[in-house]
Amino acid sequence: MYMDIKKLKKAAQIYGTPLYVYDLSVIDRQLKKFKVAFNKINNYQIHFAAKALSNISILKYINSLGLGLDAVSIEEVKIGIRCGFKKEEILFTPNGVNFSEIREAVSLGVKINLDSVESLKDFSNSYPNQPVSIRINPGVYAGGNENISVGHLNSKFGIPEERLDEILEMELDKKIKVTTLHIHTGSDIIKDNDFQLGIKKIFSIAHNFNNIETIDLGGGIKIPYFEGDTETDLDNYAKIIKDELKKFKSKKGKDLKLIFEPGKFLVSDSGYFITKVNYLKKSNKNTFVQVDSGFNHFVRPTLYKSFHDIINLSNPNDEKFEYSVVGYICEKDTFAEKRKISKISSGDILCFRNSGAYGFSMTSNYNSRLKPSELCIHNNEIKEIRKREEFDDLLYGQIDIF
Ligand code: LLP
Repeated sequence: MYMDIKKLKKAAQIYGTPLYVYDLSVIDRQLKKFKVAFNKINNYQIHFAAKALSNISILKYINSLGLGLDAVSIEEVKIGIRCGFKKEEILFTPNGVNFSEIREAVSLGVKINLDSVESLKDFSNSYPNQPVSIRINPGVYAGGNENISVGHLNSKFGIPEERLDEILEMELDKKIKVTTLHIHTGSDIIKDNDFQLGIKKIFSIAHNFNNIETIDLGGGIKIPYFEGDTETDLDNYAKIIKDELKKFKSKKGKDLKLIFEPGKFLVSDSGYFITKVNYLKKSNKNTFVQVDSGFNHFVRPTLYKSFHDIINLSNPNDEKFEYSVVGYICEKDTFAEKRKISKISSGDILCFRNSGAYGFSMTSNYNSRLKPSELCIHNNEIKEIRKREEFDDLLYGQIDIF
C-alpha cells in the first residue's frame, strides 16, 4: 500500500486543505489486478460505478481505459455521455424513479436495467419487446454493514423471485425481451460464500430466459482498508463464475457475456482525503485532534463507522500516540476514535486513506461549509480537477425574497 507522502504534502501546501487527491496509477494497478484474476474469462466488460467518484476528469480517464459506466441517475447518464462513454456501454440502473426519467434515458440511447415489475410494465407499454435488463433480488445478505447490504429479501432493490412468473409471462406474450439479468448484493463483500450464493441464484434464474445474453454481477468487491485487512479473493470469485458459465453452456449451449460494476475496487485506494490540524484539545481523558473539515466532506466514518487509515504527512515516522480525530461540524463527527497515529502537532497535515470511493461524491454543504477541491496525480504531475468552492457558490440558486 504505497503512497507518495512528499507529493501529497506538496499538494496540500500548494492547494490548501481540505482536499481530495487521486492517484490515477492506482486505478491502472487495480484494473490490471482484475484482468489478471479474470484472464480465463473472455467475454466480459467492466462498467465503473459512477456514484463512487464522478469527477469528469476521472470519468474521462476511466473511459480512456476502455471501461463502460454504471449510472443510477439520469444525471450520471448525461455526465457519462459528456465524458465520451459509448451509449451502448452505459447501463442505467434506476431505483424507484419516475418513468419520465427512464423515457429520457431511452431517448439518450443508453441501456436500461429495471428493478420492479411495475416499471417493467410501463416500459413494455412504451417500448414493446425492446431489449431490457432486469435487476433480480437474489435474497442474499451480503456486504460490510446494513446500509450497504442491498440484495436481501427485505431490501427495496431488485425483483423478488416470487414475481418472476409475471415477467416470464410478459416475455411469452412478446411484451418484453430480457437480454440481461443483473444483481448487486452489496458493497464490501468479503465472504466467497456470499458471492457464490448470488452468482448461483442468478445463473439458475437465467435458465428460464430464452433471450438471455448477459449476466451483470454488479459491484461489491472488498478492498483492504489497512495493512493485513481482509479482501475479496478475486481468483476464487473468478473461479466460481467460470464454473457457472461452463455449467450454463453445457445445459443451454450458449456462451453468456458478463458485466462487472466495480466502484470501490477501482478507485477507493487511489484517493486521499487531506486535512490540516487546527488544535489538539485535551478534554478529560481524551486528546481530540480538531481538523479543518467534518462529515460534510467525508461522511463514511460517521455514516458507516468505516475505518480509514490516517497518516500524519507532516511527521509520518515519529512515536505513535492515541488520538481521537474529529471534525468541526456542530454534531458528533468523529473520523477516528482512540487511534494510534504518529505524534501530531497543531498545523500538521493528516491524510485519510481509501477515500477515493464515496468520498467527494457524498460531500454536502452542511453547516454552510464550502466543498473541497479535487486534484489528481497523473504521469507524476499534480493537476487540479475541481476548484475549491467559494462563498458565492454557497448562495448560488438561492432566492432572496426580502
Ligand atoms: N452497481 C450497483 C447497482 C450499485 O448500486 C453499486 C453501489 C455498485 C455497482 C458499486 O459497488 P462497489 O463496487 O463500490 O461496492 N456509499 C457506500 C457504498 C454504497 C454503494 C451503493 N451501490 C459506502 O461508502 O460504503
